[in-house]
Amino acid sequence: MDIKLVTALIHPIFAVIWVFPLIGIVSYFAMQTRQRRLQAAAGVKSKIPAAVGLEHVKIGRLMAGSVVMLSLIGFAYATIKGGFIEKKLMEEAPFRGIFLIFIFAFTLISLILLYRAKPKIWRATFATLTSMGLVVIGSQEWIFRRGGEWYISHYYYGLTATIFMVISLAIIPEIYKDRSLAWRRLHIALNTIALFLFMGQGITGMRDLAEIAFYSAK
Ligand code: HEM
Ligand code: HEM
Repeated sequence: MDIKLVTALIHPIFAVIWVFPLIGIVSYFAMQTRQRRLQAAAGVKSKIPAAVGLEHVKIGRLMAGSVVMLSLIGFAYATIKGGFIEKKLMEEAPFRGIFLIFIFAFTLISLILLYRAKPKIWRATFATLTSMGLVVIGSQEWIFRRGGEWYISHYYYGLTATIFMVISLAIIPEIYKDRSLAWRRLHIALNTIALFLFMGQGITGMRDLAEIAFYSAK
C-alpha cells in the first residue's frame, strides 16, 4: 500500500466504519421514536423507553456532521488530486487555489456555527452557507460528476443527501415546536429519501472504487 492508495481509501473507510453504523443506529431510533409517539397518540401504554427521541437526535446530530465531513473528505481528495496536483493549480491559477482553500475552511466554519446557532435566522443562514460551500467545491471541473448518468452518480446522490443532513441539523427546534406536525413530516420525508440515497452511496461508491481499480490495472 503506497501513500496514493492510502489517501484514496480514507473516504471509503470513514464511510464504512463510522458513518454507515451511525446511520443504522439513527434509523433504529427513528422507528422507535415514531412508534412510541403513535402509541401515545392512540392512548396505548408504550413499552418503548421515553428516551428514544433524545437518543435519535443525539446520534442524529453526530451522524449529520459526520456525513458533511465525509463529503468534504471526498471532495478534498478529488480537489488535491485533480486540481492541486494534476492541474498544478498553485502555479497555473494561484488565486483560484487560495479561493478553494478558503471555501473549504469557510464551509467547515459554517458547519460549526450551524451546530452552535440558536435563533432561526442564524440556523437558516449557516445551513445555507454550509450547503453553498459544498456546491461551490463540488462544481469544480475535476470533480467526477457522471453528468450524463446523473441518476446513478455518486456525486449527485452524495451532495443531495449531505444537504438533507444540513437541513436536519437546522430544523430540530421546529420539529419540537410545531403542533401541526408539518416540520416533523418534512423531516421524515427528506430523511427517508436520504436513507435511500445513502444506500445508493454504498452501491455507487463501491462501483467507482472498483472501476478505478479495474481500469487502472488494465
Ligand atoms: C436516516 C436519517 C433519519 C431518519 C430516517 C429520521 C426519521 C425520523 C422519524 C421517523 C422520526 C419520528 C417522527 C415521528 O414522531 O413520527 C424522527 C424524529 C426526529 N428526528 Fe429524525 N431521522 C433521521 C435523521 C435525523 C437527524 C440527522 C436529526 C438531527 C440532526 C434528526 C432529528 C430529529 C428530531 C429532532 C426528531 C423529533 C424527536 C422527538 O420527537 O423526540 N433526525 N426522525
Ligand atoms: C454516506 C455515504 C457517502 C457520501 C455522502 C459520499 C460522498 C462523496 C462525495 C461528495 C464525493 C466527492 C465527489 C466525487 O468525487 O464523486 C465522494 C467521492 C468518492 N466516494 Fe463517496 N460517499 C459516501 C460513501 C462512499 C462509500 C461507501 C464508498 C466506497 C466504498 C465511496 C467511494 C468514493 C470514491 C471511490 C470517490 C471518488 C471517486 C468518485 O468520484 O466516484 N463513498 N463521495
